[in-house]
Amino acid sequence: MKFNTKVIHGGQHHEKVTGAVMPPVFQTSTFAQVSPGQPVGEYEYSRAANPTRQALEDALASIENGARGLAFASGLAATDCLLRLFKAGDEIIAMDDLYGGTYRLFTRLYKDSGIRFHFVDMNDLEGFEKLINSNTKLVWVETPTNPLMKLADIAEIAKITKKHNVLFAVDNTFATPYLQKPLDLGADIVMHSATKYLGGHSDVIAGALVIKDKELGDELHFKQFATGGTLGPMDSFLVLRGIKTLHLRVQRHCENGVKVAEFLMNHPKVERVYYPGLENHPFHEIAKKQMIGGFGGMVTFTFKSGAKQDAISFLEKLKVFTLAESLGGVESLANHPALMTHASIPEDKRKEVGITDDLVRLSVGVEDAADLIEDLKQALG
Ligand SMILES: Cc1ncc(COP(=O)(O)O)c(C=O)c1O
Repeated sequence: MKFNTKVIHGGQHHEKVTGAVMPPVFQTSTFAQVSPGQPVGEYEYSRAANPTRQALEDALASIENGARGLAFASGLAATDCLLRLFKAGDEIIAMDDLYGGTYRLFTRLYKDSGIRFHFVDMNDLEGFEKLINSNTKLVWVETPTNPLMKLADIAEIAKITKKHNVLFAVDNTFATPYLQKPLDLGADIVMHSATKYLGGHSDVIAGALVIKDKELGDELHFKQFATGGTLGPMDSFLVLRGIKTLHLRVQRHCENGVKVAEFLMNHPKVERVYYPGLENHPFHEIAKKQMIGGFGGMVTFTFKSGAKQDAISFLEKLKVFTLAESLGGVESLANHPALMTHASIPEDKRKEVGITDDLVRLSVGVEDAADLIEDLKQALG
């Protein structure tokens, strides 16, 4: 089945009793049993499994080409569940540019867990491989990264993790499976903030793991069931509905993303534009290799003046773009990473990786590109 068909039909079937084409929102915590331990159907309790969540999880597995999908109450709940595979003494190697919340989870929540985290430049493959030792259990990559649009070569990293028998997880939130399929490129696990492009309408907080190996998927399902960070039935319905138009939306996000990136690149007040589709992007060659069909709708830029105030007044003047956290919805959003989404990263670390105070991140939506560019023009003034 081709991807555009999978987003609509992958892992889906009509509801058994009524033939409903969309799975109903099974808004129930529990399911009747005929005798103790003998449920009427296949479900017992919604923390373990719920038919609406199951439909979403089957769709997730289908579009990412995995053996098992798991839907969580948020992207961070999904990452947290994955981290429960590890114990004191284990080491995790992560990319040096990550969503602020992921960084906070790794460095603050797991600070006293005994798990050691290394943050490295994943494009220095030799340096990264040298860090691997017998305690290394996971490599964690976000590509493209939030907010600096750095890329990591998934296929090359996978060769190394396979050689050393280390698990490899990819946060595929920015690219979506429409553009990039980490499991096909050799990764073991894909993570999503489904709050973003999968949901696609800024109306739900959700997360996902998709696992290539069925046994590991079952182990993670057990951890999810035992800790309880599952996605509710209504939210599962919303994400599933979002997935059905993922291909159409991401196509338009990509078209508009290119137009916005090119406009900004030619604007006299703009210093630097970070968009993997631009030929001068440092990771353009990797992007062409692993992002098939486009480069997404996320565009980050800085000001020639380097002034924080220029970024702030630009953001205050926007009319079509909304100044708000999050990304990946149909509507265009703008964000100041240093003051908003990445404020939890200490200032010196932010500066070290390049999250400067004049850096603005745009989530280019699916509106008419001319209106978006007009808005950017007036706000840059
Ligand atoms: C790349 C990336 N990963 C993970 C997350 C966390 O997801 P959630 O907010 O759904 O917990 C986000 C949220 O912005 C993100 O942008």
